[in-house]
Amino acid sequence: LNEIDSRRNIIIVGFMGTGKSTVSQLLSERLGWESKDTDAEIEKAAGRSIPQIFAKDGEEAFRDWETRVLEQTLCQGNRIVATGGGAVLREGNRRTMLERGWVVALTADKASLIRRVTSAAEGTRPLLAGDAEARVSALLEARKHAYDFANAKVDTSDRTPAEVAELLLQGLP
Ligand code: S3P
Repeated sequence: LNEIDSRRNIIIVGFMGTGKSTVSQLLSERLGWESKDTDAEIEKAAGRSIPQIFAKDGEEAFRDWETRVLEQTLCQGNRIVATGGGAVLREGNRRTMLERGWVVALTADKASLIRRVTSAAEGTRPLLAGDAEARVSALLEARKHAYDFANAKVDTSDRTPAEVAELLLQGLP
């Protein structure tokens, strides 16, 4: 960890339902670093919820918010930053992340993802509206290689968020 430059961050990427927000909270508690969630920062900055932004302005406008918020959040170091599942889609965002921190991709098998996104407080993800199961399948296929650029990967399918956080702490550069 000492080798992580003081301006650097730990950035968590991964498909919806991989546990990015929960794991980032745990890492934040363990390291005493501030945790930030780009989706929450977008909602604060826009003064609207993510479904509202998608409904009113469309996905591209949401992606523009995401790029701006990502850059702002990463200008400071010593943060754990949880990103939205699609933050990796723009090449510029991937570059920003690699420049500003250690990027960890959380992965999970399709069944685990479907189970997680269809349980508890769901309905907050516009891209999964309608048939969530079919949407997850299609997006997983479309984003098959989207997380390959990360510096490290952890499969969360059979692990609790606490176990994932522990593995990441052990693997810190
Ligand atoms: C999205 C993932 C969501 C949120 C938005 C779009 C995506 O974040 O940013 O609904 O494109 O995968 P989570 O991964 O936190 O659900």
